[in-house]
Amino acid sequence: MSLAQATAKKTYLNRPKAIGIKVRKPSFNPKAIRRHFFANSPVMSHLLTALSSTFPIGEQFFVHSVRNVRAKVTDEKLQTEIAAFIGQEAMHSKAHAEFNDAWRRDDYNLDSFQAWLAARDSFIKSVHPKVQLAVTCAFEHFTALLGGYILRHPEILSTLDDDAIKLWVWHAIEEIEHRAVAFDVYQSVYKDDKLRRMIMRNVTTGFASLTFYGASRLFMQDWKKSVPKVTGNLYGVYMISKMLISLIPEYLSYFKADFHPSEIDYSKIVEYWKERLADEYGMESFQEEVHPPLYS
Ligand SMILES: [Fe+2]
Ligand SMILES: [Fe+2]
Repeated sequence: MSLAQATAKKTYLNRPKAIGIKVRKPSFNPKAIRRHFFANSPVMSHLLTALSSTFPIGEQFFVHSVRNVRAKVTDEKLQTEIAAFIGQEAMHSKAHAEFNDAWRRDDYNLDSFQAWLAARDSFIKSVHPKVQLAVTCAFEHFTALLGGYILRHPEILSTLDDDAIKLWVWHAIEEIEHRAVAFDVYQSVYKDDKLRRMIMRNVTTGFASLTFYGASRLFMQDWKKSVPKVTGNLYGVYMISKMLISLIPEYLSYFKADFHPSEIDYSKIVEYWKERLADEYGMESFQEEVHPPLYS
């Protein structure tokens, strides 16, 4: 081994890790998840599946938008957080592709929706890197808000299959952990709050329409099994309305001039779920974290 190779290896091994953002390998079986997995409600389940079908393309785009400008970031701590953010999003993309593949076995058609998304993805990648990153910051605000909301409702999560909990809670925890990374990169490179807020308005309408469109398509494809579950559907509409109303203050905080994603404190609920994933759901990556060995 040459000196250069040895030095490169040593530098890699000694590279500092991002504090509070951990890349974990999920362990879940997507085929063990019921069709109407969320609170036995077709409406809610299709909404979550529609979101999942956007994740493989969407999260790769988030990574792309941060990588675009990564070389301009001089802060070493932020560089370590970018590396962890990329690792987490890559893992999410992969896990949701597995989840989506499990639905492809049934009579859902996710492929044409994903082809439609891929065309939008090519367009958005052609706009200015600042706009791309502002889009990612807006979506990261949404994913942290939604993640925080589901973690705060263990009574609803208790209706899910174990494997659905492993996927969605793991993802929610990591979205909360890395919620400030894209924002900090944007602030360190561009600091354009006017554009950041303007893009959030556009992303809000786009994200709402996209999710509604995706969920409605799934509902129609599954209408024979979905329509008869009237109580589950009404409960789903109630849950969505309650969630949207209760998230308004957190959503609006994004428009403050001095907003920072870390101002919303999720620490207690994240710790609570890390312990449950480790102890009740046997997720190894959380077991090591919650109960580290005494000697290593
Ligand atoms: Fe993610
Ligand atoms: Fe994210």
